[in-house]
Parts: sequence; structure tokens; C-alpha cells
Amino acid sequence: MTIERVLHLLADGAVHSGEELGQALGVSRTAVWKQLKKLEELGTELQVVKGRGYQLENGLELMREELIRHDLTPEASTLLTELELNGSIDSTNNRALERARAGNGHGFVCLAEHQSAGRGRHGRKWVSPYGRNIYLSLAWEFGGGAAVLEGLSLAVGVAIVRALQSAGVDGVELKWPNDVLFQGKKLAGVLLEMNGDAAGPCQVVVGVGINVAMRPSEAKDIEQQWMSLHAIQPELSRNRLIAALLNELLPLLANYQRQGFSHYRQAWEAVNAYKGREVEVRVGEQLSMGTMIGVSDAGALRLATEAGEKTFYGGEASLRRSEKEPS
Ligand code: BTN
Repeated sequence: MTIERVLHLLADGAVHSGEELGQALGVSRTAVWKQLKKLEELGTELQVVKGRGYQLENGLELMREELIRHDLTPEASTLLTELELNGSIDSTNNRALERARAGNGHGFVCLAEHQSAGRGRHGRKWVSPYGRNIYLSLAWEFGGGAAVLEGLSLAVGVAIVRALQSAGVDGVELKWPNDVLFQGKKLAGVLLEMNGDAAGPCQVVVGVGINVAMRPSEAKDIEQQWMSLHAIQPELSRNRLIAALLNELLPLLANYQRQGFSHYRQAWEAVNAYKGREVEVRVGEQLSMGTMIGVSDAGALRLATEAGEKTFYGGEASLRRSEKEPS
């Protein structure tokens, strides 16, 4: 018996007794209990309702390929070469990178209900409880060398914002280069990874993590301020949002070599969370302070400092203490 089968029964959010689950699955109550223990290990909170059974509060909307495909535009359907839905894997980016390295990754999309080793930027871990969020990676091959990818990670941020808007979520902003924020709290993140030649063909993996229905008890390891989409839009469907993301991301990748970041710059600026604000930018040990002007055509951060304008192609930006809202 797999954990998936138990989850399909619990996904409705109702209380189910151990006996009922055992009967439905044709196994003993002890076998059910062992699977539920595993669920806890996968980071998903389960309620034990005394004398009645087990419950996944608010239920889970599990991923379904036919629902995702149903909402794809004709263009996205054509660009998508393979859609792989996984239960638990280490990291969807690892899986997509494997495919990219093997030379059969172009248009490959990998999704998972759970990641045991989800990765964030700057070597951080990406908290990935079962069935609550979106963990999506998309591999793409570019012919013109790594230079054509300039600004791509920011453009991906714009694609996410557009997908969220199409799902009825407004008021989302981007923190350079591509953190997706709502009222200053992180909703989603992007991890771009590359394989190949700086000059010749190169493969890129676009990894997107979106918090959809994560609960505070499942997010204890997150060190920054975060939130889930369900706090804004309780009805939002994970399957629909996955399709909306693919409808934005696949055409973006298909046209990026021709369009470049300049095509997205204005849209990025329109949702720039730190525009005109006092920020500090850390690059390794080096800290620079100033007012954020915006971004360049290459996607670099433009900072007005006492020593004049400085441009940053990498690093981490944060608001200066004086700019932070009292918590
Ligand atoms: C960030 O730190 O903001 C980037 C987070 C990226 C997380 C996603 S989840 C899907 C894909 N697989 C991973 O291991 N990471 C990315």
C-alpha cells in the first residue's frame, strides 16, 4: 500500500476512522497507522480526532494530469513535450536537470506532491510538505549560449505574477530578482539552474515553488516571513494554477531568445516591491546601501548610492531597518 492511496481517501478533508480506511484499502488498522506516521514525516499535518479517526483539515487538492491539460492553451500544449507528476521525490529541479543533461529535457515539466530535498536560492532548503504547495520544474534548451538567458529569472517572476493575476490574485509584487511577495511576505520563489556551455547550446531548468495551502505547523523551518495563497483566495485550485503557470512559462521560454528581458522590463517595474525604497544589497561579504531605482534591460538592480549609481547582477536585496514595517 502506498501513502498516495491513503491520501486520496483523506483528501476530502472529512474525518475517517482507522477501520474505515483499512477496509477501503484492504489492510489492517496498524498498516493504515504506519502510513499516517509516514505522512507526518513528509511534513503534512494530520489531525487526530479523538474517538473518531483522522482528518486532513481543509482537505487536499491532489494534482491530476487531465485537469492540468484541460486548462492549457493550444500554444502551451504544443510546447509541452512531457508532463511528469510525482508523489514524493528529492527535488523537481534535480529531476529536470537529469533530463536536461541527458539531452532529452526540452519542454519537459516535472511536478511533485512532496520534495524530500527541495532547494531554494543561496543553498537554502525549500520547505515542501505533501500536497499543499506547487513544486514545478521546467527544462528548456537554448541554442545561443548562456548570454541569451540574461534577465530570464526576472522574466519568470513576471510570468508567475501574470499566472496569479489570471487566477484572480492581485496585489502581488516582486522583490529583486524574483521573490514573489504579498504584503511583504513570500508567496513563491524561483530557482534557475543551468547546464551546458557558456558559448554553445545550454539547458536551463526553471524551478518554481508556490505556497498554496501550507499551514504554519508545516512551515516551522522557514526563517523568513511567508504566506499561502489560500489566505488570499481560499478557493484557488492548485491544478488550475499549474496550468496557468505553464500557459505563461512555456511561451516565455519559447520566445525569450528573441525578446530578451527588455520585453518584460516594464511589467517587472510595475510590480517592483522596493521601488524608491531604502535597501541594502549583499554580495558575499560586501554590503551596499542606497535607494532602489529599478532594474536595467539586463535585469540588473540599479541602486542610487552616495557614490553614484551602482548596478548589481547578483546578490540579495533587503529593506533597510528604517523601511521595515513594525511586526
Ligand atoms: C527561492 O529560494 O526563493 C527559490 C525556491 C525554489 C523552489 C522550487 S520548488 C520546485 C523546484 N525544486 C526545487 O528543489 N526548488 C525549486
